[in-house]
Amino acid sequence: MRIELPPEVTRRLGHLLFSIPLPPCRPRTTWRIGPAETYGPVGVAAGLDKEGLYTRFLSSFCPGFIVVGSTTPRRRRGNKPPLTARLRPLSFVNAMGLPSPGLPAVLARISDVDYPLFISLAGFSPQDFEIQLEHLGRYAGPNIRAVEINLSSPTYKGLWDRGWDLESKLPLFLKVGPTADLRLYFDLAKRRGYGLVLTNTLPVEDKRLGAGRGGLSGLLLYPVLLKMLEKARERVGRDVPIIAVGGVMSCAQAREVLKLADGIEVLTGVLYYGPLLLKVLNGCSAHRPPPHTSA
Ligand SMILES: Cc1cc2nc3c(=O)[nH]c(=O)nc-3n(C[C@H](O)[C@H](O)[C@H](O)COP(=O)(O)O)c2cc1C
Repeated sequence: MRIELPPEVTRRLGHLLFSIPLPPCRPRTTWRIGPAETYGPVGVAAGLDKEGLYTRFLSSFCPGFIVVGSTTPRRRRGNKPPLTARLRPLSFVNAMGLPSPGLPAVLARISDVDYPLFISLAGFSPQDFEIQLEHLGRYAGPNIRAVEINLSSPTYKGLWDRGWDLESKLPLFLKVGPTADLRLYFDLAKRRGYGLVLTNTLPVEDKRLGAGRGGLSGLLLYPVLLKMLEKARERVGRDVPIIAVGGVMSCAQAREVLKLADGIEVLTGVLYYGPLLLKVLNGCSAHRPPPHTSA
């Protein structure tokens, strides 16, 4: 007999478990995703550890890296629950509404975590990103290996339909969703030396959620990811580092994706199978060199 708890109950129980500070895994391998050095190709996607509260727990399961956030410049409240709903097979719809205690609080919390981390920034104006990049420029330690610019949350409701130039000493990755003007972002990444994170969730209607709509993640997103990856590689060539995210939860998928991508991120797979999936996926894919390096 399988007991299925309501998603909100699972989320609260998960919060307690994931807050346990475990010692970090010490993998013997390193990996490069463009300019960012990690412990392996498969990391934790933005959204699981939004506040930097789960970083220590997750680091014990040998992810290549952990993306913390998305953060906003100041504290921001999210949507009203229900925030998540399950979909078969192995998928979710969520409408968290980009809640955050604010970048300064998150960064202070993770400053002494000895593990490769990325920070994902969310913003509702170019200044929101600039303020956070400036803060990172001053206070980010050597554990922060890269920054993701989240231009694709369904919460934005189509706000970001153009790119603009951003400056940072840290490597920048633009996180682009399935409904974006892909060519525009692919060309911007190539011109400015940014990396790409493909994809964010797919906006869908779902009356079970407090917001009435949200973002689809998990296995149902995987075909969308593959199409975007192919288009991106065709357009940007081998020079732009690409991280693939969307429904990856098996070794076969990880190997398929790494033919085109330099790294992978996983979120829904961790919710369905638990954090040990991170160790498994890194173990079965880390021996392949990233596609932009000559073997
Ligand atoms: C509950 C939840 C919260 C998320 N929050 C964020 C976020 O804050 N920032 C972001 O860039 N992506 C966020 N995402 C999107 C994921 O990072 C990822 O792009 C998407 O879920 C597809 O990967 P997956 O199928 O492995 O989950 C969130 C996804 C979920 C399910």
